[in-house]
Amino acid sequence: MTTPRLKTSIAILGCGDVGSTLAYTLILNPICSEVILVDPKTDLLNAQVRDLGDATFRGNTGCKIRAGSHKDAGQADVVVITAGAKQKVGESRLSLLTRNLHILQSIFTSMSPISSHTILLLVANPVDILTYFAQKLSGLPPSQVLGTGTSLDSARLRGVLAEKAGVAPNSIDAYVLGEHGDGQFIAWSNITIGTAPLELGLPNFTPELKKDIAEHTRGAAAAIIASKGCTAYGVANIAASICKYILFNQRTVRPISFYQPSLGCCLSMPCVLGRKGVERAMPIILDETEQRELEDCAKNLRSVIEGAER
Ligand code: LAC
Repeated sequence: MTTPRLKTSIAILGCGDVGSTLAYTLILNPICSEVILVDPKTDLLNAQVRDLGDATFRGNTGCKIRAGSHKDAGQADVVVITAGAKQKVGESRLSLLTRNLHILQSIFTSMSPISSHTILLLVANPVDILTYFAQKLSGLPPSQVLGTGTSLDSARLRGVLAEKAGVAPNSIDAYVLGEHGDGQFIAWSNITIGTAPLELGLPNFTPELKKDIAEHTRGAAAAIIASKGCTAYGVANIAASICKYILFNQRTVRPISFYQPSLGCCLSMPCVLGRKGVERAMPIILDETEQRELEDCAKNLRSVIEGAER
């Protein structure tokens, strides 16, 4: 078991399914010395803190949990924003924008001033658009404002490829890039299965299989939401790993959503994650189709941003 770094705090805004699962994951691992939960629903908040607190007693992991205010959250090392409406069955992530942007604006009004060292991690959807606005609202450098983005879609992709190839998911390098939503695309030309390029690592790879895998990855969340009304474990686990890469300064390469100066929006591209957030963008060579998909995706996200700014 790893020991949490001395005096590191992670604030989680929103203590619903995703926020509370994230808190549970952070406590058990443990990734920080203090988790601060924040939610305007005080009864729910206090109950979650008591319940999660019970989980800290047996584990004795050195991580404490407490309820806090938005002002407290603004001084944490990492602030994870899960607060917001969630998708209903059949709804797209983008359709949540008006409701969740409003919530984001009120969060920043209550949370300011934010420590200049804080890293913001957006989880609420539509995550790429909210990451863009969080950067504007916070005034923090773009490298400190991130969204979970397609790191979750990439994990789903690695999972399905691993099953088909008969190797462990962590022996696969595969990136879903662009929007965490319908505009996502797979960087097929970069996939490696162990040491082998995709066609050698997965000998029965066909155009039909390619299409099935892309559809499975894009539709994974909707399929879960159709049966249980939300997704929580997958995204909470991804958010916890990102917190760990940051607080442990791990320099791990992952596709997450961050500001792309050349595209004028936030979307997922590979980057090195460390104590300063995005330490640097990691170059990736895309083929012509992938490059076009990236540009189309950015164009669409920019028009959503322009619509919201009007
Ligand atoms: C998902 C939600 C987090 O993909 O968008 O599970």
